[in-house]
Amino acid sequence: MLTGKKIVLAVTGSIAAYKSCELLRLLIKRGAEVRVIMTEAAQRFVTPLTFEALGAQTVYTGDWDQHQSAIPHIDATKDASLLLVAPATANILAKAAQGMADDILSAAILAARCPVAYAPAMNTYMWHNQATQRNVTQLTQDGALFLGPASGEQACGDIGSGRMLEPEEILEALKGAFSPRLLDRCRVLITAGPTYEPIDPVRGITNRSSGKQGYAIAKAAALAGAEVTLVSGPTNLKTPAGVRRIDVTTAQEMYDTVMREVSQHEIFISVAAVADWRVANSSEHKLKKEFSGAPEIIFEENPDILASVAALENAPYCVGFAAETDNLIDNARAKLYRKHVPLIVANLVSDAMNQDTNTVVFVERDAATPLTKATKEHVAQELIAKIAQEVN
Ligand code: CTP
Repeated sequence: MLTGKKIVLAVTGSIAAYKSCELLRLLIKRGAEVRVIMTEAAQRFVTPLTFEALGAQTVYTGDWDQHQSAIPHIDATKDASLLLVAPATANILAKAAQGMADDILSAAILAARCPVAYAPAMNTYMWHNQATQRNVTQLTQDGALFLGPASGEQACGDIGSGRMLEPEEILEALKGAFSPRLLDRCRVLITAGPTYEPIDPVRGITNRSSGKQGYAIAKAAALAGAEVTLVSGPTNLKTPAGVRRIDVTTAQEMYDTVMREVSQHEIFISVAAVADWRVANSSEHKLKKEFSGAPEIIFEENPDILASVAALENAPYCVGFAAETDNLIDNARAKLYRKHVPLIVANLVSDAMNQDTNTVVFVERDAATPLTKATKEHVAQELIAKIAQEVN
């Protein structure tokens, strides 16, 4: 992915600057040629020598005398593939959003003709402050890419979002900077994982689904430039970078969440293995076998989320999934008609369950296009390309 790419790594004054040393090492290891720009504040945390020793081609600082060129802020990004500001403080986001150029980095950002990506790092209250969020919105509208921030415990002890992504996560998220932006700024709503329907506080019924395919689609959509909302049933998976995730448990919660969110989205991809039935007589107390014996479970039907979304007046472009044990194409096409959607991604249960690969067929009204067996990530990229073709 990074072979031959010229990346300018810009470091600003945050404690996360120490992680930029590892980031530089990983970028070089993956084949990139890296130049570094450091603000004055960054040099209080790490030194230019550290980056030189780790293999940076040049380290630009605010010290104009030190540079051979009189215009380092222009030279730094001249033939660059990407300017990556990591860590990016609230201060540099504010300066960049305003188009200020009062130090080497803000001037370099203004002069950059390559894409600019920011990996924010700051206290969670600073991140959530309206001024910072306004700057992020402005920079995003101007075409900048945001990698993170992550959530968790911060250097100051506060807990919340604002932590810089780990170097490995930044590399992963960087794929977006080099991927074709097939769904640029398109808003995509995705359901993934199973739902869980309680029988009592310790027992329940669920569908077998790891969520891997849905999460891979969320990731591929985000890498294609989409704003992704992922409504997820219980899984053990990490949220893909840049994806907004809403956790739900039951089918009814998933339905309520999707119906609340859907009007904000242009595309709906229904990957979740939704339980068709919930337990009507679920118990608030644990059922005890010595008192009640085998329980009699009464099922009632859950709402069909995909069909409900497709029936909306201003329905988004809808994609469904069909996991079948037999008659794959016929069953998938029957679902396509029953739920009134233009595309169903069909697969045999045996081809996907408990696996990192999948073998799918894109089923439409008048076509069935089989894809060769591939990783779920690859299937996700193919699906995003197909959707982009359909909606554009
Ligand atoms: N789906 C949904 N809400 C439900 C059931 C299914 O949104 N209550 C969606 C799934 O996310 C998938 C598609 O509908 O995109 C097909 O799901 P599937 O379970 O295969 O279809 P069903 O309609 O439940 O049919 P059956 O279980 O009889 O095969």
